[in-house]
Amino acid sequence: TIETMPLNVTINGVKQSVRIEPRVTLLDLLRERLQLTGTKKGCDHGQCGACTVHIDGERVNACLTLAVTTEGRDVTTIEGLAKGDELHPMQEAFLEHDGFQCGYCTPGQIMSAICCIREGHADTPDEIREYMSGNICRCGAYSNIVDAIMDVKQGGKKV
Ligand code: FES
Ligand code: FES
Repeated sequence: TIETMPLNVTINGVKQSVRIEPRVTLLDLLRERLQLTGTKKGCDHGQCGACTVHIDGERVNACLTLAVTTEGRDVTTIEGLAKGDELHPMQEAFLEHDGFQCGYCTPGQIMSAICCIREGHADTPDEIREYMSGNICRCGAYSNIVDAIMDVKQGGKKV
């Protein structure tokens, strides 16, 4: 028999109580157990950023995070950003600036972009490029992504 452990974690404002194997990643918990498939699996090895989510407001790669380490914490995924019909300002900006092509990297880019601003690393395009370098876009939408982040930063809206 496989040992499981209890886990209580708040995801997008909803308390979840599950039993999971200790080796399960946060990414697999989200996608396979909770059907929150907006968070993408690119590499599963911390190399691409497609799986970026927030834990207590800070960005992490969900593929490198064991789900059991989120006990008692607050996780936000791309599904948790919009408030009712209203998109998050970063989602709006990605739409406005065409910050995506195939869209596979986009949830991770948006989650990371929000923290790039929160961390105070979005003052110049160069700085944004540096602090977004963990998020790979195979379609090469980088310049539009930087434009979107600059726009949100300069707009001064709370992220
Ligand atoms: Fe997590 Fe690539 S899937 S960094
Ligand atoms: Fe296709 Fe970034 S939009 S990988």
